[in-house]
Amino acid sequence: MAVLITGGAGYIGGHVVSLLRERGDDVVVVDDLSTGIAERIDGVTLVTLDLAAEGSEEKLAKVMEERRIDAVVHFAGRKQVGESVERPTWYWTQNVGGLLTVVRAMESTGCRRIVFSSSASVYGVSDAELLAETAPTSALSPYGRTKMVGEQILDDAAAAGTLDPMSLRYFNAAGAASPLLGDTFVQNLIPMVFERLDAGESPRIFGDDYPTEDGTCVRDYVHVLDLARAHLLALDHLAGAGERRAAGAPPSPTVVNVGTGVGSSVREVLAEVRAVTGDPVEAEVTARRPGDPPRAVADVTLARDLLGFTAELGLHEMVDSAWKAWRAR
Ligand SMILES: NC(=O)c1ccc[n+]([C@@H]2O[C@H](COP(=O)([O-])OP(=O)(O)OC[C@H]3O[C@@H](n4cnc5c(N)ncnc54)[C@H](O)[C@@H]3O)[C@@H](O)[C@H]2O)c1
Repeated sequence: MAVLITGGAGYIGGHVVSLLRERGDDVVVVDDLSTGIAERIDGVTLVTLDLAAEGSEEKLAKVMEERRIDAVVHFAGRKQVGESVERPTWYWTQNVGGLLTVVRAMESTGCRRIVFSSSASVYGVSDAELLAETAPTSALSPYGRTKMVGEQILDDAAAAGTLDPMSLRYFNAAGAASPLLGDTFVQNLIPMVFERLDAGESPRIFGDDYPTEDGTCVRDYVHVLDLARAHLLALDHLAGAGERRAAGAPPSPTVVNVGTGVGSSVREVLAEVRAVTGDPVEAEVTARRPGDPPRAVADVTLARDLLGFTAELGLHEMVDSAWKAWRAR
């Protein structure tokens, strides 16, 4: 299939590009390289374009027609929660404006299938042991709200019959398939710890008085390679949408969690960092950060039942591969 990947030069996008090429799909990347790295996608057609800029819709539609695109995976966007609080309007322009460009170009060229990068941040703070897709959404930041609205835009287009979308709600992506594809964004826990170690400073734990087993926040870390695999399964599922419609099947779910279903606390991640690096890592406990939910772990039933997706890699593989990528920078 011919797949257009927006944000394909990014951390997660780069992994999906690599898997799609491995299985022989035709891939085109559209990226403004604001945080992306062109070397991640060597040998792939790269169209450098800011999807939130004036005139980008026509340029994108032209690429889609020329390359006879069957499906889109939309990663392009900004992902810093703190920055989104400081520059909300810019976040709406980038994340929602960029998505609207993609949706309009798809509608004008008749391309129906889209996989969208959503986020577990749509759930906000919840007491649930496991977060199912049916849990209430109430994002705590402009960033999270751009993802909630992105899902709604796609659901409205699906209801109107123009698109076959699937929004994947990623939990915490970590690890790397190869050093070149590693995460360079140091606001995620694992790279943040590595950065502090390199600087000879203690990593920080933001609060150890949460109502969790060891008092630190619990998250569902999912290996980026597993996460990337989920995109291929989502694309394959969407490829059957026309046939399902023709057979009169009820609409397929459009929102799916991608995680492992297993939570790890900050202290557990630090223990794994100690095991992998051999560094005796002593953490310093500081105040809680506003808006950090105590626990966010995916209910992965729908991903398994609908897509046949189950994460295969664990925390050790994530920390180990992230450390190798970090060392090779
Ligand atoms: N990393 C995570 O844990 C995580 C979790 C939940 C959701 N997400 C979402 O997944 C997507 C990809 O995340 P990532 O971690 O790979 O981030 P990333 O920053 O590495 O990748 C984003 C890519 O999009 C490109 N881009 C950004 N704005 C653009 C624009 N206006 N026009 C064209 N290209 C643009 C960047 O250059 C980059 O290549 C994002 O939408 C993010 O919000 C990520």
